[in-house]
Amino acid sequence: MALNTFRLQLRFTLPLILVLTIAALVALPLLDRVTARWFARDLTLRGDLVASALSDTVADALRDDKGERLQALFDRSAQDEHLLAIGLCSPDDQLLRHSRGFPVDLGCARAKTLRRWGGDTVQVSVHPIPAVGEPVARIVLLQDRSFIGRRSQDTQRYLLEFVALLGLAVLLITVVAAQLSWRGWMRGARALLSGEGLSPAPRASAPELAPFAADLRVRLRELDDAYRRSLGPSSDWSPERLRALLRSQLRGDEVMVVSNREPYLHERTAAGIEVRRPASGLVTAVEPVMRACSGVWIAHGSGSADAEVVDASDHVRVPPGSEEYSLRRLWLTPEEENGYYNGFANEGLWPLCHVAHVRPVFRVADWAHYQAVNRRFADAVLQEAHSKDPVVLVQDYHFALLPALIHARLPRATIISFWHIPWPNPESFGICPWRREILQGLLGSTILGFHTRYQCKNFLETVDRYLEARIEHEHSTISFQGEKTLVESYPISIEWPDAQLQASWPPVEQCRQRVLQALGLPGDHRLGIGVDRFDYTKGILERLQCVELLLERYPQWIGRFGFVQIAAPSRSVLPEYRAFQLQIQAQVQRINERFGRAGYQPVHLLAKHHEREALTELYRAADVCLVTSLHDGMNLVCKEFVAARSDEMGVLMLSRFAGAAREMREALIINPYHVEEMADALHQALSMPPAEQRERMASLRMTVREFNVYRWAGSMLADAGRWRLRERIEARVLEGRAQ
Ligand code: G6P
Repeated sequence: MALNTFRLQLRFTLPLILVLTIAALVALPLLDRVTARWFARDLTLRGDLVASALSDTVADALRDDKGERLQALFDRSAQDEHLLAIGLCSPDDQLLRHSRGFPVDLGCARAKTLRRWGGDTVQVSVHPIPAVGEPVARIVLLQDRSFIGRRSQDTQRYLLEFVALLGLAVLLITVVAAQLSWRGWMRGARALLSGEGLSPAPRASAPELAPFAADLRVRLRELDDAYRRSLGPSSDWSPERLRALLRSQLRGDEVMVVSNREPYLHERTAAGIEVRRPASGLVTAVEPVMRACSGVWIAHGSGSADAEVVDASDHVRVPPGSEEYSLRRLWLTPEEENGYYNGFANEGLWPLCHVAHVRPVFRVADWAHYQAVNRRFADAVLQEAHSKDPVVLVQDYHFALLPALIHARLPRATIISFWHIPWPNPESFGICPWRREILQGLLGSTILGFHTRYQCKNFLETVDRYLEARIEHEHSTISFQGEKTLVESYPISIEWPDAQLQASWPPVEQCRQRVLQALGLPGDHRLGIGVDRFDYTKGILERLQCVELLLERYPQWIGRFGFVQIAAPSRSVLPEYRAFQLQIQAQVQRINERFGRAGYQPVHLLAKHHEREALTELYRAADVCLVTSLHDGMNLVCKEFVAARSDEMGVLMLSRFAGAAREMREALIINPYHVEEMADALHQALSMPPAEQRERMASLRMTVREFNVYRWAGSMLADAGRWRLRERIEARVLEGRAQ
């Protein structure tokens, strides 16, 4: 930095010094000549003046013949600073009188012809004293010219000093100005990029640049992400590597996960107790991490037989059969579940964050339950913690208050919160009556993760809008009430199927035939699939419209293309969800009536839960998978589809409003609100040559394999490790100072 400033200053000052030197060299002789001329003229004028002042007196004296008077007058006048001597000559060149020091040998006749005397040091001038008609005498003045040289030297010296001083002053001003402006620029640029100068207080500079700076920051960070991606993985992320990281960076500290949805539900069925894995992106991602890290997972026990299988302290070892970690179940009353889960989380926060044109509903009673349940989960964390500094992974929008509650009671815990759904812009979030409480709760986290930079940016801006917090955009941290939170993007992913699992999958052709047969479709049918929870954010309606338009625009697909929509029932007690389900059912029926015929049903809606194996079979059977979310934090269905396609075939259509679209560029990226575009894309997908399919799919598979869920967890834990290390060092430094 200092070197840069110095160079900048040199660039200013060197030309300046050069210009001043040239100016001085040219100006000095010129000035010398001019001043010499001025002084000579000045001398002549003075001579004229003296002569004219003397002439009357001299004329009178000559008339009265008062020689003594003249002598005294001449001696007095010759005392003038530059007047050396005065002589009085008659018209016939006789020296009549002269003052002291007048060179007699000069002679009046010579004086008339000379202008200089004594080298160049004496100026000679002759002034006639006129009488009536002709001159009666001449006054000869000898003036000192040597002072002209002295004055000229003085002037030159003054001028040189002036130029030097001027140069010095300009130099000084330049240096200071350069310093100030460089610092100002740097500070300004830094403030702009870090956003410091954009917060309303205390520095409110350049508000018109705020959107530009925010976008720039996001772009820079995205570029950074892309760059890191382009470098490829430092090595493959696996459960072993995650475990090693946990041991080395977090000293094998105990890990706890808190989520609403549990990874395994025990359900009572006619056949006895069955274990089910819920349809939840959160569970898909976090479960493999938990298997790798062991520890405890605290969640709401919502299975009908959950209570029957836990021990006295509400624990059950999972996964069934391998029992790698402990699941601690927490029981909620129907009122609690209704207020906290159905009400505040799913009728309030879910639509609030997805901005999918469903109005969020906030009720005071729901909020009270939400607070109470968060407190109950905080109690559970305290009960489960065996050390003062566990690593607690808080999951999703059900627990916005939990981080601060844990931090208050376990200040040394590392709290890593992950928000699995989108974070809206500050205006949209402002709808929530308890926006400040939610933000304060989340800021109890050590690290707060989102899927994308864009969501981080929204969060930072929301905090900026509603809390008195210090935001360092440069480091993506928020300081609030003396505590710091790192806000980072960690794109979530899936566990990449290992070779053993892949080997257990039936061949693709077999999967195809089985699926088509089960649907009653001929073996040569092309197949499109959609796999979602039955949720209005998933764009299922738009997807069906797309299928309908495909059959309308490209009738060659009628009787040759079938579409299967898996819709796992979700939150069905909520009116919004029930209405949505009815709407979809009606839509499916209408399309089937319009394009179906004997032996051909274009759309198959399977509104029931499917286990993972069944989904893998479906993914492998499909020609195209449609992910058309209207808004989605990440979406893991697209990654599961890609992971299942070990044959490197099949086409993915992916909504640009799903977080995954930022990573999975080789998919056909679509806008679910543009049905015509989607229908064309579906036609393109169904007509895509195998070579292009392979090229796209191979690249997508590479991305998902490398950026798997172990990397997701690993990056967060590595950041947490660094954070802890820093805290320990700081604590040691403080201890050292205190001693
Ligand atoms: C989303 C949420 C998860 C949730 C899942 C299923 O993926 O981010 O937190 O578990 O939906 O929803 P559910 O309400 O059935 O748990």
